[in-house]
Amino acid sequence: MTIDLVDAYLDAHRGDFEDQLKALLRIPSISAQPDHDADTRRAAVFLRDDLRRIGLGNVDLIEFPKGHPLLYAEGPQVAGRATVLIYGHYDVQPPEPMEPWTTPPFEPTVVEGNICARGATDDKGQMFTHLKAAEAWLQAGDGLPINVKFLIEGEEEVGGANLAEYVANHRDALACDYAVISDTSQFAPGIPAITYGLKGMAYFELIVQGAKSDLHSGMFGGTVANPLNALSTILASLKGPDGRVRVDGFYDSVKPLEDWERAEFARLPFSEAAFLEQVGSPSLEGEVGYTTLERRWARPTCDVHGLFGGYSGPGPKTVLPRMAGAKLSFRLVPDQDPREVAALFRSHVERVTPPGVTVEVIEHHGAPAVLVGVDSPGMRAASRAIEAGFGKPPVMMREGGSIPVVGLFKDHLGVDTLLLGWGQNDDNLHGPNEKFSLDDFHRGIKASAHLLAELAK
Ligand code: BES
Ligand code: MN
Ligand code: MN
Repeated sequence: MTIDLVDAYLDAHRGDFEDQLKALLRIPSISAQPDHDADTRRAAVFLRDDLRRIGLGNVDLIEFPKGHPLLYAEGPQVAGRATVLIYGHYDVQPPEPMEPWTTPPFEPTVVEGNICARGATDDKGQMFTHLKAAEAWLQAGDGLPINVKFLIEGEEEVGGANLAEYVANHRDALACDYAVISDTSQFAPGIPAITYGLKGMAYFELIVQGAKSDLHSGMFGGTVANPLNALSTILASLKGPDGRVRVDGFYDSVKPLEDWERAEFARLPFSEAAFLEQVGSPSLEGEVGYTTLERRWARPTCDVHGLFGGYSGPGPKTVLPRMAGAKLSFRLVPDQDPREVAALFRSHVERVTPPGVTVEVIEHHGAPAVLVGVDSPGMRAASRAIEAGFGKPPVMMREGGSIPVVGLFKDHLGVDTLLLGWGQNDDNLHGPNEKFSLDDFHRGIKASAHLLAELAK
């Protein structure tokens, strides 16, 4: 049978696939840093050449006036068969801070069965599994069993706008029956999963201005507003001690967890103690009335990501800063609308801003949350494919992360996305010492190869 030839090809090429992944991981395609624009492009070219080499057609490196290139490719036409659109991203987060890395971020190193490098799991390693699965069908089988389209972007980590516009303007070219993304995690080692829900996001920056220049805090403090104090007041108003967001109307459109979900979450083998140990905090926190998994996967949150203003150099400096700022975001759940949340947030900030300062609210990216049906032909095919690749059927889970393109596929192409994550919760994505299990890499390739056949049925 063809699938046996495909599986044999995968077994015979494990070493090649690992070498190729390492070569890709050596390219510092940090989309956020202009110094690395040429490197980011180099990763796109690397993938373009690989897509061509493995036998895909219409391989196109799409350039934009501003931003990083997008890659498109498609397999040979397979008449009468469905079409699957596979998305991934080749850009990575900045590696900083460098000090905690035990191996250099762009010198992939295998440690205890994991490949350690920035982008190993998010998303180069996961995305690459689908290229290698297509390669096996093209090189060892008798061609792909289904129509395949690849869309691989380089601006995911910076919330770039080019992809949204591209998808909106290429509905026919991207038309498909199924969309597939591997950019999430398994539930735990040995427990593969399909993710049926993601959080959305609304990201903001606050700029608080006071006096026209920095002032002596003894001469002026207590009479002239301090933007850092004012910012602290605003930030402290966002969440109550019950862990709930205190922006009026914030929960109005939140879809409650369904009873079956709470029951399923509770059945998953989740250890609060192990989770606490993994993160290394003194204790957990969160919205009252919800379990840790419910908080992580299905309840909206608010977090501050960065603060600036005043003096934070060595020793004391008694100053009233003239300005202060914060970056913060809300993670959203169905059916919250990022634009509505932005409007609610703006009125909240206006209401709680103390006198003596002005506040500017800058809106960064927004994305809606995702929730797809757990019982569909695509989900059943994915389940069989994962069982073939990982030796176990997947559990159904949600995630707290966001993948904006899923909403674009739903809006413009009318398809739900199959979120088949090969990563692990402790892969340190976005942090130092990012890793990806090589066993999971190969299992993911096999699952993807079987998925192409299962979706074709
Ligand atoms: N792969 C992640 C999303 C993710 C991580 C989903 C973990 C599920 C579990 C993706 O690359 C990412 O980092 N997304 C950003 C959003 C983006 C708009 C910057 C995120 O979730 O912060
Ligand atoms: Mn990702
Ligand atoms: Mn990411």
